[in-house]
This record gives sequence, structure tokens and C-alpha cells, in this order.
Amino acid sequence: MRELLKGTQVTWLGHSAVLVQTHSGTTLLIDPFITGNPKYPADFKLPAKVDYILLTHGHGDHLGDAVALAAKYDATVVAIYELAAFLAAKGVAKTIGMNLGGTVRLADVAATMTDARHSAGTSDEKGTHYTGVPAGFVMTVENGPVLYHAGDTAVFGDMKLIRELYAPDVAMLPIGGHYTMGPREAALAVQFLQPKLVLPIHYGTFPPLTGRPDELQSLVKDFEVAVIEPGDSL
Ligand code: NI
Ligand code: MN
Repeated sequence: MRELLKGTQVTWLGHSAVLVQTHSGTTLLIDPFITGNPKYPADFKLPAKVDYILLTHGHGDHLGDAVALAAKYDATVVAIYELAAFLAAKGVAKTIGMNLGGTVRLADVAATMTDARHSAGTSDEKGTHYTGVPAGFVMTVENGPVLYHAGDTAVFGDMKLIRELYAPDVAMLPIGGHYTMGPREAALAVQFLQPKLVLPIHYGTFPPLTGRPDELQSLVKDFEVAVIEPGDSL
């Protein structure tokens, strides 16, 4: 694991929230669902600095505490163009709006926005707003691993393109079912992506999210599925 990650630390914070700290000290927080996340580790302390907050889409369980955390840490929020503009209008000072297929450099990380099959839209007191389409991220760490966070998605054949283009070492895949793919579909995603390690996410948070890592592992015996608790690192 240490070998694979080359000093980069990947910490699961429950649901789709993941903290990435590169060996050179860049800190990225993906889908920071903290308030209201029943699986967020209560005693977990975020690091003293968070450089970037990456959002896969605007649903509440992914947008989470992004606005407050961006202010607290003076962090830059990276999201699809319309969601970034929505958050800028909400007072987020530093945003990077991008789109599917594009890559932005975040210190020693090249972050590529990938396809995802899901819905998007962000709700506030005025209703639901169009905030672009759902996405995933490939994070290529300089002299480090290639990490793929799939966001919320069904399995789709173009995951083969993600493999061909970026060859992720670690694939963070939703497996809960109901709102995303479950273990059966995620098993095919693993075949498409051929990662060295799978980190199951988006399961067990709420009653409908019934998929479990052991079901996925039993379907992909040739691949390593990491089973860790929220707050633990790979
Ligand atoms: Ni969603
Ligand atoms: Mn979700």
C-alpha cells in the first residue's frame, strides 16, 4: 500500500468524502459532507490547511460543508463550471470552474474531470438550481499515484477510456446502490478500470445504500478491495 501510494495519504471520511494529502504537502478534500453525515468520524480533525476542495456534483451529500470550509481554510473550490459559478455567487472567494475532459493543475496534482452517469442540481431555500452535470476526478500526483474518485455514477463503458488515458492506481467507487451503482455493477467498473486498489465509497451511510465491500470483493477476486473505517487511511 505504502509502495503504491508513494507517500500520498488517502483518508476516507465516510460517504464520498475523501481527504488526499500528497507527499509534498498539498491537501485536497473531495465532496466534504461533514454536517449531517452519520458516518463522519466524530473525533476526526481536518489538517491545519486545506488547499483545494473538489466537488463531483452539487447534491447536498457531496457539496456538504464546502462553502463554510472554503471560507475557513481560504481554499479553492474546483467544480464543473456552473456549480463553481453558483458557489461564487454564494460568496466562495476562490473557485476554478472546469468541465468534463479538462485538466487543471493544483500544485503537484493534475486534476482531470471525468464523465459520470447520475443527475445533478443544487437545492437551497429558493429551490433546485441547474449546476451542470455530474463528474468524477482523476488526480495524477507528481511522482505519486493516480487516484480516481468516481463521484456518484452508474457503471459506464467509457470507464475503459479512463483506464486507457490515466490508468488509475486507486479507484474510489460508489457501491451502495439505489442512487449509484451497487456491487454487481461496480465489479464491472473494476474490470474496466483495472486498478491496483479499490476503495468502496457511498455505502452504509443511509438505509437504502445497502451494497457492501465484501459483496464487491467476492465478485472481483483478482483485485484488492480496501475495507477501512471512516477516519482511516489507505
Ligand atoms: Ni448525487
Ligand atoms: Mn450521493
